[in-house]
Amino acid sequence: MRHLTWSDVTPKPLWLNRRQLMTGAAALAAAPAFADMKAAPSKYSTDATPNTLEEISGYNNFYEFGTGKEDPAAYAGALTVDPWSVVIDGMVDKPGTYDLADLVKDQPLEERIYRFRCVEAWSMVVPWIGFQLSGLLNRVGVQPGAKFVALETLVRPEEMFGQESAFVEWPYREGLRLDEAMHPLTILATGLYGDDLPKQNGAPIRLVVPWKYGFKSIKSIVRISLTDTMPLTTWNMLQPSEYGFYSNVNPLVDHPRWSQASERRIGAGLFDGRQDTLMFNGYEPEVASLYAGMDLAANY
Ligand code: MTE
Repeated sequence: MRHLTWSDVTPKPLWLNRRQLMTGAAALAAAPAFADMKAAPSKYSTDATPNTLEEISGYNNFYEFGTGKEDPAAYAGALTVDPWSVVIDGMVDKPGTYDLADLVKDQPLEERIYRFRCVEAWSMVVPWIGFQLSGLLNRVGVQPGAKFVALETLVRPEEMFGQESAFVEWPYREGLRLDEAMHPLTILATGLYGDDLPKQNGAPIRLVVPWKYGFKSIKSIVRISLTDTMPLTTWNMLQPSEYGFYSNVNPLVDHPRWSQASERRIGAGLFDGRQDTLMFNGYEPEVASLYAGMDLAANY
């Protein structure tokens, strides 16, 4: 990562990735108490209590490392995340292969405490560190006519043993409509709980779209392409009758094999944490207008 200067970090009363804080000699010399970096949460944050780091990094879906919930924590350590670069191509003014440090340069990192709702009907609350995807797209210049953003995960079967099996046509892919990608709630996360992303959570950079089911939040991204046609997505390719392009959290539209009306909050303790699922995962005031006039049962 590039070395931060105090002018980068001091005006921002935020949690920043510890690695970014610690790489600068000045930062080391000043040795800020890490807790001091915690400050007012973003206006986009929920006030729900975050899950613990152990829960967030111990119960994952990351099929590149196996299909069990504990597989990613057990096996993602094999992934090399430095150096890391991301190809940005398609309908952009400045296509290229961007080193991660260059990609995040000038993007304001912010803590965003988001509700996270998995399609399998469990949920968590995660304190992400990230920046708006819109900031990056504006920097590379989206060309007129672009309508969608397609994203891809790394393919490296030597480190991601799950990719030796072809049950998914690798790379894992996801996509958003351009207006969804530009929405201020849509972030690229590089950390959580004030530190770098655990590898099992999609290090070094992953998408987070809090009003959509968790599978839209693609991990370990190496390619971002602007297109004028709706991109392929992994879950839609695997099972089109169950997983559509939009995948908005919607308690009124059941998954063909189970209800989506309620969810189990991981770690909720005594009672099993069962709670009603909210329309757009509780982000309805912010995002409902994106889908005005659309039949959400047909566009699932
Ligand atoms: N990204 C990649 N590359 N591979 C995956 O298997 N799983 C998705 C999503 N992103 C997945 C992925 C699914 S199904 C979920 S629920 C979330 O990651 C889980 O994110 P978390 O493990 O950080 O909670």
